[in-house]
Amino acid sequence: MKTKIAVVLTTLIAAPLFAQSPRSTIKAIVVHEFGGPEVLKYEDVPKPEPKENEVLIRVIAAGVNPVDGMVRAGMFAKHSKNAFSMIPGYDVAGIVEKTGAKLEKYKPGDAVYAYIGLKEGGGYAEYAVATDKEVSPKPKSLTFEEAAAVPLAAETAWQALFDTAKLSAGQTVLIHGGSGGVGSFAIQIAKARGAKVFATASTPNQDLLKQLGADVAIDYTKQKFEDIGKDVDVVMDSIGKDTLARSYGVVKKGGFIVSLVARPNPAELEKHGIRGAPMSVDPNSAELAEITKLIDARKVKVIVSQTFALTDAAKAQEQAATGHTRGKIVLKVADAPK
Ligand SMILES: NC(=O)c1ccc[n+]([C@@H]2O[C@H](COP(=O)([O-])OP(=O)(O)OC[C@H]3O[C@@H](n4cnc5c(N)ncnc54)[C@H](OP(=O)(O)O)[C@@H]3O)[C@@H](O)[C@H]2O)c1
Repeated sequence: MKTKIAVVLTTLIAAPLFAQSPRSTIKAIVVHEFGGPEVLKYEDVPKPEPKENEVLIRVIAAGVNPVDGMVRAGMFAKHSKNAFSMIPGYDVAGIVEKTGAKLEKYKPGDAVYAYIGLKEGGGYAEYAVATDKEVSPKPKSLTFEEAAAVPLAAETAWQALFDTAKLSAGQTVLIHGGSGGVGSFAIQIAKARGAKVFATASTPNQDLLKQLGADVAIDYTKQKFEDIGKDVDVVMDSIGKDTLARSYGVVKKGGFIVSLVARPNPAELEKHGIRGAPMSVDPNSAELAEITKLIDARKVKVIVSQTFALTDAAKAQEQAATGHTRGKIVLKVADAPK
């Protein structure tokens, strides 16, 4: 009897202590070996701890990008810090839970979003850390799921068009893959900057190109873009191969081709009297803040075509790998706060 009372008392005294103690493990998608979508495992992992320039984010939604599957398959093995037991995912939206000692800009409870660099990742999880260079306040006009769709793709569009190709108001740009993740942002931010936009996509996505603001929508399955978009100042190529090869001739002298997927051929650039460069997106919270302004001013909308549960990350990556995603794909990790 005495033992029973002691057990009950111990339980009663200890229960509130346990109830208050923070969780030390979280649920995440983990990759232990490079391979196909089947190597994505849903597991318990230690909760991350923010360094002095980082925030700990309670993730509500994580964005999915084509690169996620490439990292999983080992294509970026050389650049990956944690080749194994790595957590994929480079886009998150959520709530700040804790801030590092030197990051005074944020406080617990703030709604934020971030593009976390490819070397770190960690987005497919209940909690993730992001540095001050990666994180920015979440657009007020978006849900967390919409916000998670933005950072990597929109920053890519921004850096390709403005930082690399120096697109300016009054110029003309041809955006290949206009209905995809990067293209859907590229059309809108180019229009917001005052450019004239030609954009390509397949037949079912012609309506989307128009809805996003493209001045001229080109159906690459029925039309040759070089017959329609001639003498443009800038081409943004997200397709490569034949599409890039046929793009040199549509750029006016002195114009620019920026490619997200290949290095433009120097001989072709010279032959046409144009310039060109590949680009690789870097996290940039200042640019993300500029994108936020466009979103909250309703100049940029976010197209989320599919939302998956975190446990269905493999299905989400299979869709992202098709190369035919309309807008963006998102993982729902938790319910949004009321
Ligand atoms: N360098 C970087 O830093 C960087 C950053 C982000 C992305 N990327 C790369 O850029 C590419 C695009 O990324 P994303 O996230 O936008 O991909 P996505 O969401 O899969 O979009 C691809 C789009 O391309 C369209 N498309 C497919 N074939 C086409 C063709 N022959 N001509 C014109 N459009 C075509 C598709 O539209 P339809 O369904 O209508 O065909 C789809 O909407 C990926 O390869 C990605 O890895 C690179």
